[in-house]
Amino acid sequence: MGTEEQTETGGVATANDTLTITDNRTGKTYEVPVEDGTIRATALRDIKVNESDFGVMSYDPAFMNTASCRSAVTYLDGENGVLEYRGYPIEQLAEHSTYLEVAYLLVHGELPNAKQLDEWTNKITTHTFVHENVKSFIQGFRYDAHPMGMLLASVGALSTFYPDANQIKDPEIRYLQIIRLIAKMPTLAAFAYRHNMGQPYVYPDNDLRYPGNFLSMLFKMSELKYEPDPRLERALDILFILHADHEQNCSTSAVRAVGSSQVDPYSAVAAGIAALYGPLHGGANEQVLRMLRRIERKENVPDFIAGVKEGKERLMGFGHRVYKNYDPRAKIIKKACDDVFEVTGVNPLLEIAMELEKIALEDEYFVKRKLYPNVDFYSGLIYEALHMPVGMFTVLFAIPRTSGWISQWLEMIDDKEQKIARPRQIYTGERNRDYIPLDKR
Ligand code: CMC
Repeated sequence: MGTEEQTETGGVATANDTLTITDNRTGKTYEVPVEDGTIRATALRDIKVNESDFGVMSYDPAFMNTASCRSAVTYLDGENGVLEYRGYPIEQLAEHSTYLEVAYLLVHGELPNAKQLDEWTNKITTHTFVHENVKSFIQGFRYDAHPMGMLLASVGALSTFYPDANQIKDPEIRYLQIIRLIAKMPTLAAFAYRHNMGQPYVYPDNDLRYPGNFLSMLFKMSELKYEPDPRLERALDILFILHADHEQNCSTSAVRAVGSSQVDPYSAVAAGIAALYGPLHGGANEQVLRMLRRIERKENVPDFIAGVKEGKERLMGFGHRVYKNYDPRAKIIKKACDDVFEVTGVNPLLEIAMELEKIALEDEYFVKRKLYPNVDFYSGLIYEALHMPVGMFTVLFAIPRTSGWISQWLEMIDDKEQKIARPRQIYTGERNRDYIPLDKR
């Protein structure tokens, strides 16, 4: 063995990085290169019992141990609870940066200088309006339509307003769609909210900053100018920073997989929104609030936990495919809760959440399975304090995640190794059956 070094993917790199595989079916031995702690699944195809054999495949439902791409966007070490965007720790970004600066960082790979940030902010700010027909389109939804469904449909519909968005190989056209997506997402989200509330849609206010403008589009009534509370605006900005990217999760993989067909970025991002909608992904924040309301009182927590352990339901906002430690985002959100509650008064559900966390972190069931609070456990409490209805929670996740999706999409488009995503299967059905006429079945 050569000099050992831990690779970022968790494997161990050695000087002679190969894996020797013996096929006991044939007695043949193969040497497979190990690169960055991984072997190429296609290398297994050389392992055959005879010439006509397809070769060995790897079987990995739910991608438990398969790297689907090389990425330089987000680094995540789930064992140690580390999250970095482009190498910058999430804690530092949440403390010093703004969401728009982080979006720039994700898309461009570097933090902007003052001039670049100014230009970027200006571009985003001047693309916040949507075509008037989008408004009529949203008006077509039922009064009680889920805002996530409205967001999903309207982002997909944007591709029809910008038909040249399908020219994904043109860097300038591509860049314009990136600006549009980041800029228009809060507008679409706020329109969906106002639709549910039966209130007139509020146009963007370009004097306000990104989160402040969003709050204005949500809550402005008859006042001439909406003045966001700076503490609430900052809390929202921090939440946006924390949700901006999370490497190859379900929705990002959906964006990449759909985008690999070379469809326009609006359609690819709509796929990401659809994936995020699910209760095991972004929809979990909504489920956490519903769960806390159902538990009702701190005294009911032990019974609820007992039900979870019996497998009756899941403790929403707990557990993660990658984090086997406290989600660093949950730590930051827990602190942001204090700042928000200072303005809004404490959300009584916080007491139940803290009791759940306390009991779960000491309970063998959760300890053994390394289940810790994730980003969704406390975020809903802040959203509720900001007067967001639960249906909006996942929408609040989708707005900032757009910068992550689009950065990952961009990376994929330029990655020479990527092709249309097309997994294999192990066929388990019948073969070669003769059709039986209806009267004989
Ligand atoms: N409550 C109770 N038990 C759980 C939970 C939970 N929240 N999460 C996992 N487990 C148990 C699970 O039953 C299994 O136990 P056993 O080994 O006895 O069968 C074990 O822990 C491993 O769970 P898994 O389902 O195999 O793990 P996974 O990696 O497939 O699932 C997860 C990850 C996030 C889907 C899951 O932990 C979960 O459903 N959590 C609740 C929903 C949630 O909070 N989702 C938000 C994730 S973070 C934000 C995001 O990505 O969108």
